[in-house]
Amino acid sequence: MKPIKVGLLGLGTVGTGVVRIVEGHQEDLQSQVGLPIVIEKVLVQNKTKSRSISIDPDKLTEDPWDIIRHPDIDVVVEVMGGIAGTKEYIIEALSRGKHVVTANKDLMALHGPEIVAKAKENGCDILYEASVAGGIPILRTLVDGFSSDRITKIMGIVNGTTNYILTKMSQEGASYSDVLKEAQELGYAEADPTSDVEGLDAARKMTILATLGFRTNVSLANVSAKGISQVSKEDILYAKRLGYELKLLGIAERQDDLVSISVQPTMVKQTHPIASVNGVFNAVYVYGDAVGETMFYGAGAGELPTATSIVADLVAVVKNLKLGVSGKQNGVADYKETKLKSDD
Ligand code: NDP
Ligand code: HSE
Repeated sequence: MKPIKVGLLGLGTVGTGVVRIVEGHQEDLQSQVGLPIVIEKVLVQNKTKSRSISIDPDKLTEDPWDIIRHPDIDVVVEVMGGIAGTKEYIIEALSRGKHVVTANKDLMALHGPEIVAKAKENGCDILYEASVAGGIPILRTLVDGFSSDRITKIMGIVNGTTNYILTKMSQEGASYSDVLKEAQELGYAEADPTSDVEGLDAARKMTILATLGFRTNVSLANVSAKGISQVSKEDILYAKRLGYELKLLGIAERQDDLVSISVQPTMVKQTHPIASVNGVFNAVYVYGDAVGETMFYGAGAGELPTATSIVADLVAVVKNLKLGVSGKQNGVADYKETKLKSDD
């Protein structure tokens, strides 16, 4: 039984979780795919850094091409972040026939169609469940679970860092900067937390949700995003007194052939289920013509929840390989571009 060999780009918060799950759940994984899944090589920036897991030092490399050009690696799991270099590695890995799993919403929101097209051209899978809402399997749900319906609206809390900050400010009167620091220490925030607090991370995730949910290519450039950096404790307190919670809400709507997407701090009535989504948790509301209203809830960031989605993608890649259907998954490449409401 030849094992599936994985090259892991990144061993930070998410990469560490991937190693823990692949090793800790190996028996369960094998029972599903019938093959051992082995982490063959791991890219890091600094091999001498101390780590929270023990890893064979011979597996570590500081050269991405050791993984991308490795003849025996079947699947590249990208959890290093960034756009320019990462895109080059992913495109090259796909060109070499390697399947790719990524958590990189920045990359998929900006270059999704090109990357998916490259994957299809080479008969490879590109899966990115972890890029939106951490441990909630929302991309699969939109593509497969709602394939029978016409989704008209997707609304949600899709950034864990900002929800963690707003919750602590609301419930404990904590200061914005102290809680942001805490969210960084817990591994929730992006390397540059500006994208979290200014609403860009949520905008990228809403772009991915709208693309898959509405089955159309949506351009990130037209999404309006406002974050929470200007929200004060007083704003939160006044909202509370009026019977509302302040949440960073992403809303994507489709009317006829037009799509609108926005991200902004929003007053949510305390009686609405989304008002009680607290801490690092995310929630995504999906409205379909036929199904009506549905809501998905779970941890939106952090080591193990995010790694759960990555390893589920890995299992899907191996199942597709065994069935000989790699590269045939739904993706953004086939969708035509839709006009956004703000395009004029
Ligand atoms: P971290 O900063 O914790 O880890 C990044 C890892 O990549 C580190 O191991 C680092 O090496 C390595 N790395 C970064 N740049 C390079 C480079 N140029 N060359 C070699 N190695 C490099 O990030 P996260 O794990 O938090 O996030 C990774 C990705 O997952 C990002 O795209 C993020 O947006 C996404 N994501 C994160 C979530 C979270 O909860 N944290 C949730 C969902 C998605 P070294 O260890 O030596 O520094
Ligand atoms: N920084 C992101 C968040 C990580 O806080 O939601 C998960 O995508």
